[in-house]
Amino acid sequence: MEGVSSSPSPPPMSLLAELTHRCPLQCPYCSNPLALEPKTGELSTEDWFRVLDEAAALGVLQVHFSGGEPMARKDLPDLVRRAVRNGLYTNLITSGVLMDAASLERLSAAGLDHVQLSFQDVDEDGAALIGGMKGAQAKKIEAARLVVADGMPLTLNFVVHRLNVERIPRMFDLAEALGARRVEIAHTQYYGWGLKNRAALLPTRAQLEQSERDVAVARERFGTRMAIDFVTPDYYADEPKPCMGGWGQRFVNITPVGRVLPCHAAETISGVVFPSVREAALGTIWNDSEIFRMFRGTDWMPEPCRSCDRKEIDWGGCRCQALALTGRAEAADPVCRRTAGRAVVDAALRESDKTFAYRSYGCERLSSADTSDGS
Ligand code: FES
Repeated sequence: MEGVSSSPSPPPMSLLAELTHRCPLQCPYCSNPLALEPKTGELSTEDWFRVLDEAAALGVLQVHFSGGEPMARKDLPDLVRRAVRNGLYTNLITSGVLMDAASLERLSAAGLDHVQLSFQDVDEDGAALIGGMKGAQAKKIEAARLVVADGMPLTLNFVVHRLNVERIPRMFDLAEALGARRVEIAHTQYYGWGLKNRAALLPTRAQLEQSERDVAVARERFGTRMAIDFVTPDYYADEPKPCMGGWGQRFVNITPVGRVLPCHAAETISGVVFPSVREAALGTIWNDSEIFRMFRGTDWMPEPCRSCDRKEIDWGGCRCQALALTGRAEAADPVCRRTAGRAVVDAALRESDKTFAYRSYGCERLSSADTSDGS
């Protein structure tokens, strides 16, 4: 395409290996695509072995095993062992609901370096409402205890939104009680299912500002005892975020069926052939494929990005957000106040809905609870 960068690219730092879209939970903000992949199309163990070998040869440093729920794959310990043998740092991103002592022991023996455990809420009913699974909270707490008892570093990840954002202080209490070394308070990002359910999940400005104060208090309280990451919803920002650290610069995503993407939402872009690890080597895809080259660097940028002094800071923001909100992936990210598209973001900030759709394979199920808007 016109404006494609031809300069050689350094290797990606991180590989997100989406092993499966299967998951016992049904979170309405899941970043997986609306069209979930069934088990039948998933890459085999041997396919993933080859991918991990190629990733290490390419220069990838860390692999994040994700999903769906990656523990739904019985070969996960074998994949971890292969990654470790290749010198890759291994992180498991899990809901914890399939973890027990035996499965954690297998992962530990395979050399797993780190576990990132997601929580839907600190409150049991709130967690069941969002995850769509009764009893999940107790399983997660037990999973956290197993990980800490094993001596493996643990990060707790709380995704926050309109329905639970006011419980952030209690989330820190739980993380401290469970012995987490790091806590991530991540406001929902509006892609995939999160975008579909945005009107029910997007916090009010007052809620966002309170969450900023809550995180500041926790940082003061824990000092160096606990690392705290805070991810905000960019809809309230004036400037876009450097999504993925720049398109095709630091990050590569592989879907359960082997498609290789610059980000988890890139398949929303139409008119592009998405390369597969079944057909080409990872290094060839990273360096030469159309999808990775189309928004890499700055040559592709429209105005006002092209003449903006932030263009090598935010790299033009998020291509998938530009597509979802303006209909054009090559448009300026409409979060930016200097773009006409900003009106779409401002309109979204005025939306409100009391129901959301659970993540599911095809058959849509709506939340039945009265989801108070928290304002
Ligand atoms: Fe695709 Fe931001 S999610 S570029």
